[in-house]
Amino acid sequence: MSKKEDLTSSEKRDSFTSKTGFILACIGSAVGLGNIWLFPYRVGQFGGAAFLIPYIIFIVLLGYTGLMGEFAFGRMSQTGPIGSFKMALETKNKKWGGFLGIIPVFGAFGIAVGYAVVVGWFIRFLVGFITGSAISSADSGAYFGQIAGPFGSIIWHLIALIIVTIVLISGVSKGIEKMNKIMMPAFYVLFVVLVVKVLTLDGAVDGLKYLVFPEWSCLLSPKTWIYALGQAFFSLSLAGSGMIVYGSYLKRDVDIISSAKNTVIFDTLGAFLAGLIIIPAVFAFGLDPAAGPPLLFITIPSVFKLMPFGRLFGIIFFVSVLFASITSLMNLLEVPIEAVQNTFKLSRKLSVAIVVIAAFLIGLFVENGDVLGSWMDFVSIYIIPLGAFIAAVMFFWVIGIERAKSEIECGSEKKLGKLFEISAKYVFVFLTIFVLIAGILLGGIG
Ligand code: ALA
Repeated sequence: MSKKEDLTSSEKRDSFTSKTGFILACIGSAVGLGNIWLFPYRVGQFGGAAFLIPYIIFIVLLGYTGLMGEFAFGRMSQTGPIGSFKMALETKNKKWGGFLGIIPVFGAFGIAVGYAVVVGWFIRFLVGFITGSAISSADSGAYFGQIAGPFGSIIWHLIALIIVTIVLISGVSKGIEKMNKIMMPAFYVLFVVLVVKVLTLDGAVDGLKYLVFPEWSCLLSPKTWIYALGQAFFSLSLAGSGMIVYGSYLKRDVDIISSAKNTVIFDTLGAFLAGLIIIPAVFAFGLDPAAGPPLLFITIPSVFKLMPFGRLFGIIFFVSVLFASITSLMNLLEVPIEAVQNTFKLSRKLSVAIVVIAAFLIGLFVENGDVLGSWMDFVSIYIIPLGAFIAAVMFFWVIGIERAKSEIECGSEKKLGKLFEISAKYVFVFLTIFVLIAGILLGGIG
């Protein structure tokens, strides 16, 4: 290996400078469209407060196993899934681990392609609220239809990618960590402001009832449990990709157990706050809380149109969802960037440029709202759970549970309990296969 290659691949590897920075980056990755777009709707659909029981069980279980595993796997191998899987299989004298690692890299890249389009929509709406066009348009549906139509948001899509490129080119500590330290606390503060505003609206209490009134009978339906699992799984960004890559930038003295716990707590808080804003606001104005693009891009703008000081609150809302989604996009794009940089020994700048340009060009073909939905469904149903499954097998089985345990415990104050082995080796691995199969059968569960 030449000196230049050596510098690019190892000595220059950037890292998070603090535990707080790492945790905020992981929270930034986790809190995104899943929390804001889907969680409020799922709660209403599957029994209100009753849904929270399976959701909390799964989020704690997955955090305790998958999340800690992905952080520790990345930290151990000091690289993303391609290098991590390669390293794992090499311990068994098998050479094809790197090929398997391509699966989660494609998963993250595939989601990033679609995510960038949606971040572009958020920017478009933010600008629409600032200029007033989103408020003054007579028909919110037509306003969104124009944006989400074929090639309707190229410029906004491009702006989203330019913003993320600037952050990613700056590197892990100076770019990703710094931006997450600003954007994630700001996201929570702004969301709390919105919760206070929304809960004081007339009629908001009906939404609150819809959200929290427990329909215990829903717990008897397997679907409630399956969708709660899907929600928790996708919300934590478990995919054998992004969390491995962030873990690879982690120093050995950082407490992985408490980092995972904080990621779970704040991811759940983000989802709860989103629920407390969106559903009561929609009810206050007698609108329909259906999920998907119409909720965030048609119903919510209609709410702000009707609300006193709606333009101001619309700006606050779209700034916060922009922060939540941009920080998720950073993590998704970091996966292929790290892979390109490490595999081809390229500079960070060139790797960022290659990945972002590819994401933009492919994104042009999925910009249309319908194509976008099918694209995201395909990647999230087939590739994401497969990546998480392979990563779990590689770490908990191939590397082995004893080594996995000591890697997770390294730098942590607490030790893992007796149940860890069963939950990681059997329960988590089973759940990843279950997410894959249930997703195929039900057409997506996250
Ligand atoms: N986990 C992120 C989300 O919920 C990607 O959107």
